[in-house]
Amino acid sequence: MKMDIHADRLLILDFGSQYTQLIARRVREHGVYSEILPCDVDPKRISQCAPKGVILSGGPESATSETGWKIPQIVFDLDVPILGICYGMQALAESLGGRVESSDLREFGHADLLVEHTDSILGGLSDTGSLSVWMSHGDRVTSLPKGFRVIGSSAHAPIAAMADESRHIYGFQFHPEVTHSEGGSELLAKFAHSICGCGRSWTPENIIETAITEVRRQVGDGQVLLGLSGGVDSSVVAALLHKAIGDQLVCVFVDNGLLRLNEGAQVMETFAQNLGVRVIRANTEERFLTALKGASDPEQKRKIIGRTFIEVFEEEASKLSDVGFLAQGTIYPDVIESAGAASGKAHVIKSHHNVGGLPDDMRMELVEPLRELFKDEVRILGVTLGLPPSMVYRHPFPGPGLGVRILGEVKKESAEILRRADHIFIEELRAHDLYDKVSQAFAVFLPVHSVGVVGDQRRYAPVIALRAVETIDFMTARWAHLPYEFIERVSNRIINEIEDVSRVVYDVSSKPPATIEW
Ligand code: XMP
Repeated sequence: MKMDIHADRLLILDFGSQYTQLIARRVREHGVYSEILPCDVDPKRISQCAPKGVILSGGPESATSETGWKIPQIVFDLDVPILGICYGMQALAESLGGRVESSDLREFGHADLLVEHTDSILGGLSDTGSLSVWMSHGDRVTSLPKGFRVIGSSAHAPIAAMADESRHIYGFQFHPEVTHSEGGSELLAKFAHSICGCGRSWTPENIIETAITEVRRQVGDGQVLLGLSGGVDSSVVAALLHKAIGDQLVCVFVDNGLLRLNEGAQVMETFAQNLGVRVIRANTEERFLTALKGASDPEQKRKIIGRTFIEVFEEEASKLSDVGFLAQGTIYPDVIESAGAASGKAHVIKSHHNVGGLPDDMRMELVEPLRELFKDEVRILGVTLGLPPSMVYRHPFPGPGLGVRILGEVKKESAEILRRADHIFIEELRAHDLYDKVSQAFAVFLPVHSVGVVGDQRRYAPVIALRAVETIDFMTARWAHLPYEFIERVSNRIINEIEDVSRVVYDVSSKPPATIEW
């Protein structure tokens, strides 16, 4: 019998919370497929989704305000269990005849949730009768809708959790999706499995099997082209498509000369040699350097690199005959953000090159096997497909590569110095078990010369800056507080091993106001 990994699904209705994607990811960690739709989506989409339960997210609005988003009637008409979180709970109270009021007694951060009924969904999660949970609210529910009982309370929210067990409707003022909430993950699991009755079919093996079937159905015996960059998403697409359609996949790897040390060789080794994928390597360092000659503004360099990449890619593609499909590593956050941007309701709007930014004259059908997956799921899939974990769990690397890490004009000699310095930094991070503790780390080439003295020799040479940050979403970031001894070791190695560097500095700027790249 054919397995359907989407059959038992939960719908996460998004009221604009920064945690909405986190709710979806937590649910999926319990083997249940979850889908996010904006709260003002066409109600037909909600009924087509046919979820086994609905989770209403938090949000920045006030449920007491006239303009606050309301729960669409279709959510109640579906007659499936509902869980409202934070704003979602308040919107439930408002919709069902309870009362929500603004309060000066706000709760942000940790709060103790007293479990009022151990026979409720909150039972069995702690021995003490209370749970340390994460709160973030000003408004609070002050009167229960009919049929509900209080199942949890906190110092400033006497109704911090409510339930109408006969109708399977629940409300939590706290955020079970954040890891700081004790028992939060178990609560979401209980809701998904015990209350909504979902199975556990959303597993890496099942996702791979389903994707393979779907790709084979979509492309038949057609040829598929993929731009392989060595980054996580395109690498996982390559491994997945190769498993699905073997030699019908052709990858083009544009080596622009702005990659990290040995990166081109590693991509070829992993894919062409080890996996037997058809990879065309376009060695175009000269072409990129020529195109970049004289350009020093970072945005201008980005544009030149992007444009040259498309030119090269199209030239390589035109040499192939009968390619009907173009594969892309679009992932779920890109899809959600584009949908949010299209409806104009997203609080943060980001255009993404993977969605809707293709040249108009490309007449190929898109193959996007990762469209439903979050980044962490893509990584797990990559490892399950046999890619090296060191490749799958690598820090992000910008498309324009070293082009934006060499300040001023990009020259071959600068790229070579930077590659070596960056390699030393990364090698030491790995050796000291620090690589996975920072979110992104790299070296930057500064075209200013400074004086140094090595042995009896005076050295007048460029400066290397080291950058390492800690971040969850890359929208804000803190500079990583790496140990001084570690930075000292990296600095010594770079100056001793690369004679064209006179000085190493460490970047102590956070984002904002600085950005991660220079
Ligand atoms: P910023 O510098 O904006 O970086 O704080 C945030 C994240 O985005 C990456 N980044 C880029 N990625 N093309 C890319 O593909 C770019 O032009 C680009 N600029 C920044 C950066 O590495 C960090 O992860």
